[in-house]
Amino acid sequence: MESIFIEPAVDSDLDVVLDLLRRSNLPVDGLADHFGGAIVARQDGRVVGCAAVEMYEDGGLLRSVAVDDSLRGLGFGQQLTNAALDLARDRQMPAVYLLTTTAADFFGRFYGFQTITRDDVPESVRQSVEFQSACPASAVVMVLVL
Ligand SMILES: CC(C)(COP(=O)(O)OP(=O)(O)OC[C@H]1O[C@@H](n2cnc3c(N)ncnc32)[C@H](O)[C@@H]1OP(=O)(O)O)[C@@H](O)C(=O)NCCC(=O)NCCS
Repeated sequence: MESIFIEPAVDSDLDVVLDLLRRSNLPVDGLADHFGGAIVARQDGRVVGCAAVEMYEDGGLLRSVAVDDSLRGLGFGQQLTNAALDLARDRQMPAVYLLTTTAADFFGRFYGFQTITRDDVPESVRQSVEFQSACPASAVVMVLVL
């Protein structure tokens, strides 16, 4: 297999990342405005995975963690998440929040994210499109203090 590199996304990755998110049944709304916090997994020049952190005054919002389905189970989801969390630490985020309908166990098991309620999330993070409209009310809300 060609080597896979985990690296910051560049603007020209946006369309391919949005396509990967749609294929993975994840929301796309709001990502373009926060693409500076996106990470990709690249294989032979092709984007095969992504993750992103939206930065707010009181914390980061981890979102859009996805791996091409032909490459799942090989550790790339964890590498992408690690890179996104490192980015949040570099930007001095005190905590990272997320919403998920599909992978609460993944983030709990590998990173220690804890389930919280929407009311526990700082107001600035709740302004994100994911909190406002893109994720269903039934999504699990989680936090990791950095
Ligand atoms: C979730 C996802 C990013 C994981 O990526 P991945 O590269 O397959 O994961 P890794 O190889 O790093 O880790 C594999 C481990 O995670 C576990 N895992 C994978 N997806 C999981 C999920 N949705 N829920 C719970 N655990 C999960 C696997 O069982 C495996 O555990 P094991 O090591 O005990 O066997 C990938 O399955 C994906 O793109 N899913 C669709 C999009 C999605 O739901 N994203 C998360 C919401 S933001």
